Amino acid sequence: MSNLDKIRELVEKREQARLGGGIDRIESQHKKGKFTARERIEKLLDEGSFEEYDMFVTHRCTNFGMEKTVFPGDGVITGHGTIDGRVVYVYAQDFTVFGGSLSETFALKICKVMDQAMKVGAPIIGLNDSGGARIQEGVMSLAGYAEIFQRNIMASGVVPQISAIFGPCAGGAVYSPALTDFIIMSDQTSYMFVTGPKVAKTVTGEDISTEDLGGATVHSTRSGVSHFKADDEEEGILLIRKMLEYMPQNNLEEPIATACTDPIDRQEDVLNEIIPDDPNKPYNVKDIIYTLLDSNEFLEVHRHYAKNIVVGFGKMDGMPVGVVANQPNFLAGVLDINASRKAARFVRFCDAFNIPLVTLVDVPGFLPGSQQEYGGIIIHGAKLLFAYGEATVPKVTVTLRKSYGGAHDVMSCKQLRGDINYAWPTAEIAVMGAKGAIEVLEGSKMAKMTPEEAAKYAFEKEAEYKTKFANPYEAAKYGFIDDVIEPRNTRFRIIRALKTLATKKDTNPPRKHSNIPL
Ligand code: HXC
Repeated sequence: MSNLDKIRELVEKREQARLGGGIDRIESQHKKGKFTARERIEKLLDEGSFEEYDMFVTHRCTNFGMEKTVFPGDGVITGHGTIDGRVVYVYAQDFTVFGGSLSETFALKICKVMDQAMKVGAPIIGLNDSGGARIQEGVMSLAGYAEIFQRNIMASGVVPQISAIFGPCAGGAVYSPALTDFIIMSDQTSYMFVTGPKVAKTVTGEDISTEDLGGATVHSTRSGVSHFKADDEEEGILLIRKMLEYMPQNNLEEPIATACTDPIDRQEDVLNEIIPDDPNKPYNVKDIIYTLLDSNEFLEVHRHYAKNIVVGFGKMDGMPVGVVANQPNFLAGVLDINASRKAARFVRFCDAFNIPLVTLVDVPGFLPGSQQEYGGIIIHGAKLLFAYGEATVPKVTVTLRKSYGGAHDVMSCKQLRGDINYAWPTAEIAVMGAKGAIEVLEGSKMAKMTPEEAAKYAFEKEAEYKTKFANPYEAAKYGFIDDVIEPRNTRFRIIRALKTLATKKDTNPPRKHSNIPL
């Protein structure tokens, strides 16, 4: 064979590898409204930046006559490229080859890019679309999954890991995405479950569809497994690119600040009037978030899940920040199990990757009742408390209105190493609300009165309590609030606080690891 023939052979081999499982299966993928693995990578990365590894790798299985069916690349496309000029490592499962199922060599390919991403200090993005363990490979496939899981665990908190689910993701395969930082699911074309509808029917008798058991809607609203539900793959891919704007390449770097065209001293008179005079009236905390952030841009995480707390990314003077805010518009902004878990995980992500935290507080307390207590609100609430207390990134807190009881402590209070704690004049920082407090303090006395007398007495006592406690000045008197600020100046005050804190250094004691209440 001449040298030219050898080059021609290479070109042909590449062409063949690029076809994956063949034209028919590519067409069938398109008919399902899905992109192929290669198309996804092309859309995800900067044009022409993809460098592929291991396109000639083939499986080694001889069970069930597998040696007769071999596809170069073996069902997963791996390599690196750039997103907005920054290096990322990527793998995309190719459903056209054995249904994207995971073989020994398939796993080795993924492990290779994960190992290199860790050495280089670059994010890892996994695009999932797979029928799970390659059945013909038996335990080799299980071992392959475990190799990936181990690397997910080692990479956690070192480089950002993002998973998109663009097709099936079932059985133990779900645990790789679950170990990563963020999961995006495409609506109607993806699903995730540990056991599918057929097994559920056999074991428990439950009759449930694939979509209802593990579709994008249930995981982004009920289970919270998915952080984002994308209308389609295109939107999912854009979301990955957007998310990376807020993250550093790894835990040793700072997130990248970009030029800010939005005046940092933009005063917003609307904020002076946003809190209703009636303390029981709700308002939408997202109106405040959008107003405070650069160019009113906010990338909300877990938008449809535990809506009583809002978390997400934005920029302030070009610097990425993580925002956590109680949402009075939903369940009065109360903290419950799901809200605590959601916010705790977000706080820990931001802390791991040096993203400062801005916390907006309007919380009436924890949700009472047996459902919450039996579900372990004590442990789950402790997660958020723990996450804030452990976080060493700059923490700026603004109390907008209510900050009552245990929930006050949890929401990034001064004693949890809150760096700068502001309050609006509308803040009410106290052990509990006036009504509850007077019931406890004066209940036995009121029991001896006529209902009319008791109502009048309670009204007077509540007014007295509100004057004394339902304000920010009691806490400010002790230095728990650093300053009471005019709402319209909040953007400037937070930005100045963050700039001052940019060189902040704080540490936790040396230990193997903390024991967060899981
Ligand atoms: C080998 C597989 C496969 C698998 C699919 N294929 N899944 N090959 N191992 N796990 C092959 C099919 O034989 C078929 O090959 C091609 O991929 C496309 O599959 P279809 O069934 O035609 O596609 P579709 O109708 O879209 O259904 C997709 C599917 C279904 C729902 C994913 O294929 C399916 O149920 N697969 C099995 C899923 C499963 O039980 N996996 C193991 C789970 S246990 P041809 O040649 O006909 O195109 C697990 C444990 C992990 O994953 C543990 C980790 C710790």
